[in-house]
Amino acid sequence: MAKIVIQRKIKTFNKTISVDGDKSLSIRSLLIGSQSYGICKIKNLSKSGDILSTINGLKKLGIKIIVKKKICYLYGNGLNGFNYKKNILINAGNSGTFARLLLGLLVKSPNKIKIIGDKSLSKRDFQRIIDPLNKFGAKFESSNKNNLPLKILGTEFLKPINYYEKKGSAQCKSAVILAALNTPGKTVINAKKSRNHTELFLKYLNIPIEITNRKKYDIIKIIGDTQFKSFDYKIPGDISSSAFFIVLTLLSKNSKLRIKNVNINPSRIGFIKIINKMGAKIKFINKRVVCGERLADICVNSQKNFKSINCPVEFNSNAIDEFLIIFLLASKASGISNFKKLEELNKKESPRLILASKILRKIGVKVKLGHGSIKIFGNPKLEVKKKISINNYFKDHRIFMTSVIAALCLGGKWTIEDMESHKSSFPSFLNILQKIGYKFKKS
Ligand code: S3P
Repeated sequence: MAKIVIQRKIKTFNKTISVDGDKSLSIRSLLIGSQSYGICKIKNLSKSGDILSTINGLKKLGIKIIVKKKICYLYGNGLNGFNYKKNILINAGNSGTFARLLLGLLVKSPNKIKIIGDKSLSKRDFQRIIDPLNKFGAKFESSNKNNLPLKILGTEFLKPINYYEKKGSAQCKSAVILAALNTPGKTVINAKKSRNHTELFLKYLNIPIEITNRKKYDIIKIIGDTQFKSFDYKIPGDISSSAFFIVLTLLSKNSKLRIKNVNINPSRIGFIKIINKMGAKIKFINKRVVCGERLADICVNSQKNFKSINCPVEFNSNAIDEFLIIFLLASKASGISNFKKLEELNKKESPRLILASKILRKIGVKVKLGHGSIKIFGNPKLEVKKKISINNYFKDHRIFMTSVIAALCLGGKWTIEDMESHKSSFPSFLNILQKIGYKFKKS
């Protein structure tokens, strides 16, 4: 696979950009659309690898999907309207969200379906999904310690469940919500706070769902087995993708960036809250609601001084995908930053907490790694003067993009392997950097 070589910092820029459609909402719109009756029109669907895996998987299950330039047409056959051959195999690629949410939709499948994934996904935990879906009545077989490859066999006799989601995992919560969609009766979920896109989506479609927000938990009640019609949906820009450009702008010289139409769902903006506490002054303008989700344009300017943070753990789940880029900002802040209870970060596409500490040490940052925690000794004068090589990172898209941003802000001579990896969530990443003014060397 090609590697990218970066040998100089990015020059001053002043631009307006748009990032790709949100990954979580792209996957949800396809999966929920597959259960509706009629033709869904989905605009601004992400074209990332994870979404291609979702489209290919749904096509194997008999769902017709046509992607034109700007619009995706999905032909839903109603609840559990999948139509597929016996012994099919679905490849979820790198996407934990697709694999886990899809299993929720398969609790009624009359034949065994095998789900596989790439090397990174095959290492990730599926027990967290098997446990609640077992309670609905679905059965699983695995030859790999309950990880992928995994076979699911559904049942006609689904039972609604009471489920306590204690990890703050939106994937677990959403898999249960999607299983509940196909299950007659009332499923009740008590879920530690996490991104709430699935709940908002079903509410937007007037599907019977009741949400009560408590301080630390949400209580979600769904009456399943209610057919619903197809819909039109517009996917907003991804805040997790925007995060890379926000930190790039903050740490560059005299630069300015506006990112248009970004999703600012309160359950996704832990990153903004954390960096604002560190002294960033991020502005949301032109706020509005589209298809039940909050959107804004994000404005950011370069800044000189950042404070360290003792990061409140209640932000963890709402910033879970942004910690790598937050760690980069913490490396340039004055003082020692402290991040705790982040065990989940080692269960992502790569063991991110461990790899982050290795990369930070490589570039001269002092770190103290604990079990699920990291202390970063910030240095506002941090610059890289030597050769840095980034490899063996399980092709984790967010490690690739964080490393590119670090190279563009800190200097040094960087070689970053597996440059295709960013395409699993953010295929336009390098094109946008070029638009901002950076010319890359591939080798
Ligand atoms: C996601 C939830 C998060 C996140 C992932 C997308 C989702 O995972 O890391 O990138 O769309 O539901 P967990 O729910 O496992 O924390």
